[in-house]
Amino acid sequence: KANERESLYLVSEYAKTYFHDVLQNTEEGKAIGLSYFKERGFTDETIKKFDLGYSPDSWDAFTNQALANGYSLEYLDKSGLTIVKDDKKFDRFKGRVMFPIHSFSGRVLGFGGRILTSDKKAAKYLNSPESDIYHKSKILYGIYQAKQAISKLQNCYLVEGYTDVIQFNQSGIENVVASSGTALTPDQIRLINRLTDNVTVLYDGDAAGLRASIRGIDLILEQGMNVRVCTFPEGEDPDSFAKKTSNEELKHYLETNSTDFIQFKAKLLMEESQNDPIKKANLINDMIVSISKIPNAIKREVYVQECAKIMDVSEQVIYNSLAQIVAVDI
Ligand code: CTP
Ligand code: MN
Ligand code: MN
Ligand code: MN
Ligand code: MN
Repeated sequence: KANERESLYLVSEYAKTYFHDVLQNTEEGKAIGLSYFKERGFTDETIKKFDLGYSPDSWDAFTNQALANGYSLEYLDKSGLTIVKDDKKFDRFKGRVMFPIHSFSGRVLGFGGRILTSDKKAAKYLNSPESDIYHKSKILYGIYQAKQAISKLQNCYLVEGYTDVIQFNQSGIENVVASSGTALTPDQIRLINRLTDNVTVLYDGDAAGLRASIRGIDLILEQGMNVRVCTFPEGEDPDSFAKKTSNEELKHYLETNSTDFIQFKAKLLMEESQNDPIKKANLINDMIVSISKIPNAIKREVYVQECAKIMDVSEQVIYNSLAQIVAVDI
């Protein structure tokens, strides 16, 4: 099994180098892939830092090159880089710009590939399938490039997408990782917790992003970590927002708009309940559920006090609800 994994690492590393080389040194790569990245505002330095690449718009150019270099069809297939069907072989990422996904220690585990046409039927991003080295629920895009900055700054920005991570780096913010569109998992949070106890959730400014932030909060609290949230204007994601603001403005925006989870939920409450008592009650209960996830009793107590103050209810009533939640949990 260790040998199998090693073979998958090797073929993935080869593919990363191949796609990066195609992007930088071929006519097709430069005209299509590189110009796409340039249009998104990525510099050569950023492209190198994230090992971005391009997979030629050909059925089997990559696969044939890999085979010619001695990589076996077995591992090309197992890594998902090649799709083997009957006796035919296809490049999975044909015609896409490539985002290699690194492990904590920097090994290439898999890829995300973005389509360049506006073909509504095809998926915008295609990812490597699950393999012995690529487990979608256990990886965080950008962790390898971000780990030093996260340790140093003792905070981690958590975004949804590949390009959010990259655009933030370009804006001088390096302590950033992406959950890559999947629902955040405890394994992903534990990866951050190796480096810091503090997470700031920066999801897209749309309904899906808001829902994902709310769900993420409880999971992060459950791991005993501190969570802040910063939202973006409707229709913006961290990438689009960072692209149109200066580095200074972005830093300022993040500093002034990041709030502790309890204030974030309180603000939602004010916006959504509009003094409707039933909605207000539901949202207070929702806040109490979040507080119940906090493992540390002292920290829980501080949040009970804070919640009581913000929502203008007694601490006793919150403790009563908490006791019920805990009882239900058992
Ligand atoms: N994603 C995916 N498959 C899709 C759509 C999204 O895996 N079909 C993942 C990708 O990791 C993507 C993230 O979810 O980066 C966030 O999705 P979205 O906000 O739709 O994409 P962006 O990252 O904003 O992509 P872009 O700016 O390139 O359009
Ligand atoms: Mn810790
Ligand atoms: Mn989105
Ligand atoms: Mn997005
Ligand atoms: Mn985007």
